[in-house]
Amino acid sequence: MAAIPALPRKYHGASVWALYAFGFIPAIYGFYLGATGQLPGNAIKEFEHLLGLWALRFLIATLCITPLRDLFGINWLRYRRALGLLAFWYVVMHFSTYLILDKYFDFPTIVADIAKRPFITIGMAALTMLIPLALTSNSRSIRRLGSRWNKLHKLVYVIAAAGALHFAMSVKIVGPEPMIYIAIIAALLIWRPLRPHFNQWRRGQTARTSYQRAL
Ligand code: HEM
Repeated sequence: MAAIPALPRKYHGASVWALYAFGFIPAIYGFYLGATGQLPGNAIKEFEHLLGLWALRFLIATLCITPLRDLFGINWLRYRRALGLLAFWYVVMHFSTYLILDKYFDFPTIVADIAKRPFITIGMAALTMLIPLALTSNSRSIRRLGSRWNKLHKLVYVIAAAGALHFAMSVKIVGPEPMIYIAIIAALLIWRPLRPHFNQWRRGQTARTSYQRAL
């Protein structure tokens, strides 16, 4: 397999900051289009949908980092925290659009929505689960929590599944777009328990090849 060119180490830090900067462009551009009347139909709904979709995309990108390394040897671990935090901020913006622009802080309606509309209940649960992950995404928490950090951050799989379910339930007909997101998230969830077996099989292959070369 052809190796993709590696970025020199001195640019790693800058590339992470560039990811944050580029990551917020869809939200800024969407807001600009909405504010200047260029979003079609109901601009608030369009903006809310755009933010929800980007939240899901960044969640998927976060989950892709490990399989990319396992399957293709691409090590983009340095981008995982930024991708996870971008997902978190997009969910927060998605929720804020719902809270402020859609419901105008009408708390009784919001509470009724959370209680009575299952897709909102699931979305809210996903946002709630994202909060401890965002709060412990710093290096100090990783050091302090040790192996408990890994256990806690496995929640991201539950959050992605909840996000996909929330998406499928928010639409009247589950068309090709939600189907694609559900399929990608399902593949990533299936990969998780298969991963140790795959890595063990690959280690065996590598050991066998080195042994044969040494003969
Ligand atoms: C991980 C958390 C979440 C993710 C990934 C997510 C993602 C999405 C996606 C992809 C859509 C559909 C966009 C489209 O139709 O193109 C959507 C719709 C929606 N979401 Fe979320 N969401 C999350 C949390 C929440 C929360 C916390 C709320 C509010 C309490 C919320 C409220 C809504 C609403 C009101 C819609 C639009 C339904 C409509 O068309 O009327 N979401 N979300």
